Amino acid sequence: MRRKVLFLCSFNELVLTISVIVYCGNICFACPKGCFCPSMSQNVYCTRQSLLAIPDGIPYDTLELTLNDNRFKNPVLTRRNFTNLPNLTNLYLSGCGIESIAIDTFAGLTKLKWLDISKNELKFIADFTFRGLNLENFFINENPGIQFSPKAFDGLTTRGLYMHGCSLMNLSLDVLRPLNGSLRALWLYDNQFERLEKDWFYLLKSLSHVRLGKNNFHCNCEMSWLYQFFITQDSIFSGGDAPSCSSPPQNNKKLFNELKTSDFTCELPTFKNVDAVFESELGKLTCTATGDPSPTLFWVRPDGTTETYYPLKQETDKDNEGVMYITNPQSMEKAKYKCIANNPAGNVTFSLNLAWPVVKDSHVESTSAPLTATTTTVNKQYSVGGKKNSYEWTVNKPEKNMGIVSTNDKVKNFSIVDIVGAVIGTFLLTLLICALVFHLYYRRRERLRYEEKDCCEKNKHPKNVYTMSDHDENCIKMMIHHHNTDHIHS
Ligand SMILES: *[C@@H]1O[C@H](CO)[C@@H](O)[C@H](O)[C@H]1NC(C)=O
Ligand SMILES: *[C@@H]1O[C@H](CO)[C@@H](O)[C@H](O)[C@H]1NC(C)=O
Ligand SMILES: *[C@@H]1O[C@H](CO)[C@@H](O)[C@H](O)[C@H]1NC(C)=O
Ligand SMILES: *[C@@H]1O[C@H](CO)[C@@H](O)[C@H](O)[C@H]1NC(C)=O
Ligand SMILES: *[C@@H]1O[C@H](CO)[C@@H](O)[C@H](O)[C@H]1NC(C)=O
Repeated sequence: MRRKVLFLCSFNELVLTISVIVYCGNICFACPKGCFCPSMSQNVYCTRQSLLAIPDGIPYDTLELTLNDNRFKNPVLTRRNFTNLPNLTNLYLSGCGIESIAIDTFAGLTKLKWLDISKNELKFIADFTFRGLNLENFFINENPGIQFSPKAFDGLTTRGLYMHGCSLMNLSLDVLRPLNGSLRALWLYDNQFERLEKDWFYLLKSLSHVRLGKNNFHCNCEMSWLYQFFITQDSIFSGGDAPSCSSPPQNNKKLFNELKTSDFTCELPTFKNVDAVFESELGKLTCTATGDPSPTLFWVRPDGTTETYYPLKQETDKDNEGVMYITNPQSMEKAKYKCIANNPAGNVTFSLNLAWPVVKDSHVESTSAPLTATTTTVNKQYSVGGKKNSYEWTVNKPEKNMGIVSTNDKVKNFSIVDIVGAVIGTFLLTLLICALVFHLYYRRRERLRYEEKDCCEKNKHPKNVYTMSDHDENCIKMMIHHHNTDHIHS
């Protein structure tokens, strides 16, 4: 019984197919309902026909199929939607409400040269989705928020890749690497790129047309390679908007052709906060620095071992924080810890001499603690324009006991002192505390204050924590300057 039914079915299909061939033959080109098929053209146009699916009856020898602006009911494309179109060269699927494309959907279309999947709602392109295709032009424009798996383009070649208006901000170069060699034109304008790593150069230099206008480039020294490429290879960019900058502020809204090489600068890191907090068995050293780009931080222990804290990628111009825990050393000697902040503009080092606080009376009221003044060395090194500049200074103030400092004491007492931190821990039973103060250029302070009145005024400190504030850092920078000038003059 079953067999008979099956036979009947395929018999029906056979009859249908035969009748199509008989009625149309090779002369008449069957045209799906609702579509327009100009005679002698082997093209099928079904633009804006309110089709809910790809229509049946598309002739096998169709060369060009246009389905733009039909909202498909099923937003997922699979290989079964494109069977029996062996000679298709152009496929237009723009504005069809497509949300995803299964792997190998187009694998049967071995002669495809143009593929347009623009203006859909594609969110994620999985690995190997387009493998086997050798395209001339591939349009993925205006799929805002689209993400690509690292191997999305593996197995694909195309001469032109058009991805404007896709809100791209962190497209990995690895995604495009499979196209290296075949790609000649890359359209990435009107996206949200803030930076392109230097490695992009090795892709871009093999192209003949590139569009990078209308992005949000962060035009610091890390992007100067692109600027150099832009001014030396202007034919690659000609005919379109020049790449544009959104930051840093002085380059905001500027186009590359309005800038100079010297406008692409980075900013040396500055410390925003360095502090140390001790509990009975554990010390916590925190170092926060900022710069453009965000610096890599290193905590260097007295024995020279180092902990490294990389900034989050994709984040420019943001703070980076390095937290290192130390355990109670055997010796109560002072030991030198260094926090180094590094970015392409150079290194800035903050040294602190730490001694484990000696607690005089562990049952002291939790609001008081001994505070020990320490020596601070700030050592800064950087190189400008290939010329190495290096200078450092040390301020040695005799270590002295600052006595008991209660939280009621005004931080103002230390307000001229330029730095940092330490704390009074608050614990009922295990009471152990910490302390750390940095004194910098005590002697110069009058002069400095004269020069920058508000610079050293501390404000808004938490009650029992002494930390270095931005203001302090300004002081440091200024002092560095002074020192530098002195150095040169002397
Ligand atoms: C693709 O094929 C599936 C299964 O045959 C079908 O349900 C869907 O409607 C087709 N999609 C389009 C856009 O025609
Ligand atoms: C596809 O094109 C080839 C070469 O032009 C031709 O021989 C073949 O008949 C075509 N196939 C179909 C199904 O039209
Ligand atoms: C790219 O950015 C998107 C959205 O901002 C995020 O979800 C995704 O994880 C990022 N991808 C990478 C590789 O950073
Ligand atoms: C692209 O290929 C060229 C030569 O084949 C190579 O030098 C370059 O590094 C490649 N670029 C990338 C981004 O892989
Ligand atoms: C900056 O510090 C890092 C880490 O200590 C070091 O590797 C690098 O050589 C330093 N660079 C300069 C320019 O001093």
